[in-house]
Amino acid sequence: MSRYQEEHRRSLADPEGFWAEQARALHWEKPWDRVLDASNAPFHRWFAGGVLNTCYNALDRHVEGARAEQLALIYDSPVTGTVRKYTYRELRDAVALFAGALQAQGVKQGERVVIYMPMVPEAAIAMLACARIGAVHSVVFGGFAAPELAKRIEDAQPVLVVSASCGIEPGRIVEYKPLLDQAIERSAHKPARCIVLQRPQCQARLVAGRDLDWHEALAAARPAPCAATAATDPLYILYTSGTTGKPKGVVRDHGGHAVALTYSMRAVFDTRPGEVYWAASDVGWVVGHSYIVYGPLLAGCTTILYEGKPVGTPDAGAYWRVIAQHGVKTFFTAPTAFRAIKKEDPRGELIRHYDLSRFRTLFLAGERCDPDTLLWAQEKLQVPVVDHWWQTELGWPALANCRGIEPLPVKPGSASVPVPGYDLRVLDDAGAERQAGEIGNLVIRLPLPPGTLPTLYRDAAGYRRHYLERYPGFYLTGDAAYRDADGYFWVMARIDDIINVAGHRLSTGAMEEVVAAHPDVAECAVIGVADALKGQVPLALVVLKSGVRRSHEEIARELTARVRDHIGAVAALKRVVVVPRLPKTRSGKVLRATLRAIADGRDYTVPATIEDPRALEEIRSVLRPAP
Ligand code: COA
Ligand code: AMP
Repeated sequence: MSRYQEEHRRSLADPEGFWAEQARALHWEKPWDRVLDASNAPFHRWFAGGVLNTCYNALDRHVEGARAEQLALIYDSPVTGTVRKYTYRELRDAVALFAGALQAQGVKQGERVVIYMPMVPEAAIAMLACARIGAVHSVVFGGFAAPELAKRIEDAQPVLVVSASCGIEPGRIVEYKPLLDQAIERSAHKPARCIVLQRPQCQARLVAGRDLDWHEALAAARPAPCAATAATDPLYILYTSGTTGKPKGVVRDHGGHAVALTYSMRAVFDTRPGEVYWAASDVGWVVGHSYIVYGPLLAGCTTILYEGKPVGTPDAGAYWRVIAQHGVKTFFTAPTAFRAIKKEDPRGELIRHYDLSRFRTLFLAGERCDPDTLLWAQEKLQVPVVDHWWQTELGWPALANCRGIEPLPVKPGSASVPVPGYDLRVLDDAGAERQAGEIGNLVIRLPLPPGTLPTLYRDAAGYRRHYLERYPGFYLTGDAAYRDADGYFWVMARIDDIINVAGHRLSTGAMEEVVAAHPDVAECAVIGVADALKGQVPLALVVLKSGVRRSHEEIARELTARVRDHIGAVAALKRVVVVPRLPKTRSGKVLRATLRAIADGRDYTVPATIEDPRALEEIRSVLRPAP
């Protein structure tokens, strides 16, 4: 049995022994009573009765140990021409002071704080400050528009919101404060306070009596100590797209999360304390939570917070510049970023301008990685490229080539094998296990390992309904996959209406709600179609109300603008196509899979349940795959 197989076997045969061993890497104020509490199964809890503080483990522990003067965080922002560095001591002090500012504004343990910020170090400081005092943060991606922010404010009911005057996208300034003001106006819940970081690029107008300048809040504050947080207390809520317009509030706890991330930094990413680790993502996504902020700091690494793009800031050599300048050893990003680089610099010529001798491994995740992109990256960079699979709900990788246990052969197109702690299976519709090579529903046998979601925020019934009811005893991932004869998994597509646009997880259901609300639209379907750069892009098929005589181009422009204003620029509709009717089953369900096949130019069979086959012909004549 290989080292990987032995470790994976042990993690499933004796999960309590395995995870107790991993938990010893952290500082516990009080050890757990039970490693795995299954008394309320299928809602499992890890390290019940234990007390540990995530911020203490991510910062203070290293300051009190040997890492006080080691760099903890490097902020590298080509869009503002800034590089700012924090040692562990400096970051701990900044976090403790902002934690004191939160307390001074009345934030108490267990209360929620929404963080709506661009990629600035203050975003990470605000997250860690919440963890320090036991407040529950909920970071909202800066690319979401006011109505999406409002939904999250309404659900999380924060006492306070931390924001900034603006984000900076190449060529334009995105003012955050008007979006925040609109969101608060739309939301039935009103936070008592907003703390706003004024950036030099734009001054936000503060609302008297509610809003406070970040620096003024700090000036009046005293550093706060770490609170005693139970391992099972919530650390954060991160909303993620579901199949409807209502996002799901994924809850993460303190104990299991800290243990799992610490384990993953070693076992999956093969990093050691003191090394430089860079995840080029955004703090608004789970990758940013786990591998810009918590994972690298828990592991005593130096993390990089990059405010820029893979291309255009200033060119397709931006990533190589950061890797060389800061001595990055392990780098994590989404395949789409590599597709963007490959498009601009197909021969990888810019790579040669930089000294990448300290760079060791590239990790890609967030969407399916096409073999061409993986092979291009491997050839040009001359380092192993590891595709790995996970999702917001899980919080850390579930399928990977665990470089820290034992590097396995790479199979381009496969996210490799189950990570220790995860028992993955592929089931057919009746719940029987699929044979090797047969595609089916990817599920994980319960209990899920530490670090995964214990529930959805204020929606335990929704957690059951969405993830646990389909196959009792298993967690439904929502992905379709197959396992090959060597035990490698190949994740192929979603089984629901979630799409992945440039590594951003979006709900076509949410877009349909926005499109359907247009006064000229009778009904619509939004589907994800294949795109060479972004992986998938949303396409809207629209049936107009009878009697509407306006130009289709004009309506398409209005619908695109609506989706952008309601969900965000990242959800821009690639195409809007007016069709006479939507192809449906006799029970009235839109035939989405068939529509996707037609749009992508793939073969399809006319479903036996179709109401009227002529509807497909009509669609085919207007919907040829985009060139
Ligand atoms: N705040 C405000 N607006 C944002 C934003 C943010 N944080 N992030 C993206 N946007 C805007 C962009 O400015 C763009 O606006 P525009 O239509 O006015 O130009 C729009 O949303 C679409 O952005 P995006 O989907 O990112 O496409 P792009 O063409 O601007 O860039 C890539 C393409 C590939 C360079 C870019 O998607 C990228 O860097 N991808 C990597 C993604 C990633 O790391 N994801 C994390 C998962 S691990
Ligand atoms: P998110 O919750 O935003 O991380 O998105 C998770 C979803 O992205 C998964 O359920 C998959 O559909 C997709 N995904 C993430 N990583 C991969 C990967 N390596 N291969 C295929 N799909 C992936």
